[in-house]
Amino acid sequence: MASSSSVLILGLAFLCHVAVAGRTCPKPDELPFATVVPLKTVYEPGEQIVYSCQPGYTSRGGMRRFTCPLTGHWPINTLKCIPRVCPFAGLLENGAVRYTTFEYPNTISFSCNPGFYLSGTDSAKCTEDGKWTPPVPVCAPVTCPPPTIPKFATLGTYKPSAGNNSLYRDTAVFQCLPQYAMFGNDTITCTAHGNWTVLPECKEVKCPFPSRPDNGFVNYPAKQVLSYKDKATYGCHDTYVLDGPEVVECNKFGNWSAQPSCKASCKLSVKKATVMYQGEKVKLQDKFKNGMLHGEKVSFFCKNKEKKCSYTEDAECIDGTIEIPKCFKEHSSLAFWKTDASDVKPCETDVQTQS
Ligand SMILES: *[C@@H]1O[C@H](CO)[C@@H](O)[C@H](O)[C@H]1NC(C)=O
Ligand SMILES: *[C@@H]1O[C@H](CO)[C@@H](O)[C@H](O)[C@H]1NC(C)=O
Ligand SMILES: *[C@@H]1O[C@H](CO)[C@@H](O)[C@H](O)[C@H]1NC(C)=O
Ligand SMILES: *[C@@H]1O[C@H](CO)[C@@H](O)[C@H](O)[C@H]1NC(C)=O
Repeated sequence: MASSSSVLILGLAFLCHVAVAGRTCPKPDELPFATVVPLKTVYEPGEQIVYSCQPGYTSRGGMRRFTCPLTGHWPINTLKCIPRVCPFAGLLENGAVRYTTFEYPNTISFSCNPGFYLSGTDSAKCTEDGKWTPPVPVCAPVTCPPPTIPKFATLGTYKPSAGNNSLYRDTAVFQCLPQYAMFGNDTITCTAHGNWTVLPECKEVKCPFPSRPDNGFVNYPAKQVLSYKDKATYGCHDTYVLDGPEVVECNKFGNWSAQPSCKASCKLSVKKATVMYQGEKVKLQDKFKNGMLHGEKVSFFCKNKEKKCSYTEDAECIDGTIEIPKCFKEHSSLAFWKTDASDVKPCETDVQTQS
């Protein structure tokens, strides 16, 4: 009994002391993202304040309501106002999201991979209510409309893969009508911009009538005009040889792929000789009874007198002319005791070219 009354006395004494000293509370501490109501510079003991979090923030921990105590010291405030978090939006199919956090009031931005476009806006903000605004976009595939077909062309390979349209990187291949030549790439590709790469052109091409070669002939289609891909066939008379391909074609530049001519064969001034022809020893007089054709090549044997050995030198028939190597010595058929150069042992290779 005595003790309880003494507590009461103590308490009364305390109250009196405060009332006498007039202890007031100061302006309360500022708390990030919170507001205090009422906000004043001085509070009488017993006055109440309420902290509330600003829009976009939620309270966590501690108390929100405080009464100014007789001590004049606001109690320690452990309240925290933390930002609201918007739904996870870190992934965008066929695209990318740039963000720091998904908290209020941050903004995140979007981009799409090549071949996709943003259907929606390129950024969104986390609102006070914890929602993205405007809503998160999607990356939609880019499509190309059916390609226009160049004049004098047909569409070869083409398969729209998105309904009537094509997707990024799809291709279409054109062909020119017969006798039209293609300029540019026959293949077009659907780009990330939703258009096709540059179309090729098909142009009509004419070639002049080929002229008949001297000592030969040329055949070509009996037509009014000769066009792209038309062919002409060349040939030569008797001992003449065609220099160039037998068949030529009208190319897309309006020219023939080649202009063959007829080249004369060679008469041989040498009566008898053993020569190398295509890797074999042959008798010139037998092998080339009717002369050598243009372009044919033989190797004559020559003697190195000091070293008593033999070496070879080449000779080629070029349009009726063959130059017999100077080192070659033709024996009279009566000089049967002389050894033919082709029967002499060959010189060391590095001596061959000396004469
Ligand atoms: C494709 O085009 C045809 C003819 O224009 C049309 O009838 C059809 O509805 C189109 N299809 C799609 C999937 O757009
Ligand atoms: C033609 O285009 C295709 C695809 O666009 C490409 O792969 C090819 O290299 C091109 N050809 C030429 C000759 O430019
Ligand atoms: C396709 O579109 C892009 C962007 O608009 C443009 O730069 C390009 O020249 C276009 N390509 C063709 C072949 O028209
Ligand atoms: C056609 O060929 C001739 C000779 O080969 C050449 O001079 C001419 O420039 C060529 N013309 C074209 C269009 O290529």
